Amino acid sequence: PGIATYDPGFVNTSSCRSSITYIDGDKGILEYRGYPIEQLAEHSTFLEVAYLLLHGELPTQTQLDEWVHDVTYHTFLHENCKQFIEGFRYDAHPMVMLMASVSALSTFYPEAGDISDPEVRQAQITRLIAKIPTLGAFVFRHQQGKPYVYPDNRLSYTENFLAMLFRMSEPTYQADPRLVQALEVLFILHADHEQNCSTNAVRSVGSSQVDPYSAVAAGVGALYGPLHGGANEAVLRMLNRIKTTDNIPDFIDGVKAGKEKLMGFGHRVYKNYDPRAKIIKKACDDVFEVTGVNPLLKIAQELEKIALEDEYFVKRKLYPNVDFYSGLIYEALEFPPEMFTVLFAIGRTPGWLAQWSELVQDKEQKIARPKQIYTGERTRDFIPMSER
Ligand code: CMC
Repeated sequence: PGIATYDPGFVNTSSCRSSITYIDGDKGILEYRGYPIEQLAEHSTFLEVAYLLLHGELPTQTQLDEWVHDVTYHTFLHENCKQFIEGFRYDAHPMVMLMASVSALSTFYPEAGDISDPEVRQAQITRLIAKIPTLGAFVFRHQQGKPYVYPDNRLSYTENFLAMLFRMSEPTYQADPRLVQALEVLFILHADHEQNCSTNAVRSVGSSQVDPYSAVAAGVGALYGPLHGGANEAVLRMLNRIKTTDNIPDFIDGVKAGKEKLMGFGHRVYKNYDPRAKIIKKACDDVFEVTGVNPLLKIAQELEKIALEDEYFVKRKLYPNVDFYSGLIYEALEFPPEMFTVLFAIGRTPGWLAQWSELVQDKEQKIARPKQIYTGERTRDFIPMSER
């Protein structure tokens, strides 16, 4: 108290205590509740990871069955919510439609404002995790001008999402299990990343004790920004522009001369390989086995090889991050680039909610209200219009 520290971007300020996600950026470690991301990606499902993030422990079989059942039976949207999405122009960006419709959900569940009641909190957490893929699929179909496909609760979480996106004439669409698995892994890798920009937005807005839909809508808004969720789309544009491996040396020279950045490289926290990038590389192989190899993969691999041996990147500790390969997978799964960040948002929702839940139960947490260093004028007399 009384001391104001200037720290734009909170680079050196801890805004909370948290027991959810641990990162060691120098060693390339990412753990959810102490479990290494590599083990979760290999052995777990997205809903099991969501349970872990929310409750702190892996579920027993009975707990998992109940959780999956609860989520599955909350996937439908109120019809008026569907009409709300229909009100957007055909070319509205999916992330903006998602942000607005997540916040609109709070009007359908007015009891959500009673955040002191654990049962009310849990009901909204279940609803949001269940409904966000439906919202994501509906905004996609709206953008494409295609009829909405309702949830099919016989399917798993991720199969259901893919069916709502891509099913044309019931019941012919069936997602390849290897593609479902790859998307599950991507969701797991994105599920939480401690105090990143969107999570900080959820916590900051949530600290006013508003309902969780409003807090998570703020997170979706933060994620929409190009410095946060948009890098995978930028990687794809960059690879398309490079076109052939012959053009890589010139491109790298341009990066080293400061003309542009090698997108998908570097990270504020990871100064060693991003552990998520390693796992995504393997998922790439699995996906391309089904879809055929994306020709851009060769360029990405060659770029990575050259960059990892080049002094410029080595000296600055620049390694591939989570976004370097994820766009290639999303493209192979036939998502248009503007949907990439929606996929990120679906994956990040359990993390946002676990962080929100931790925040509202933390007795030490106060309303977010940073100080400022005032740089403007001090007390002066009002000037009448005729004298200005
Ligand atoms: N390509 C070329 N040079 C780079 C890159 C890059 N991708 N990233 C950093 N540098 C250079 C930078 O120019 C600086 O050089 P110098 O010391 O000569 O001035 C040095 O490396 C340190 O960079 P910085 O900008 O101080 O690092 P930061 O921690 O502020 O930025 C970053 C981290 C992720 C914003 C940045 O590395 C970047 O812009 N990368 C490309 C965009 C990208 O892939 N973003 C995805 C982030 S992971 C997804 C997520 O978690 O949301």
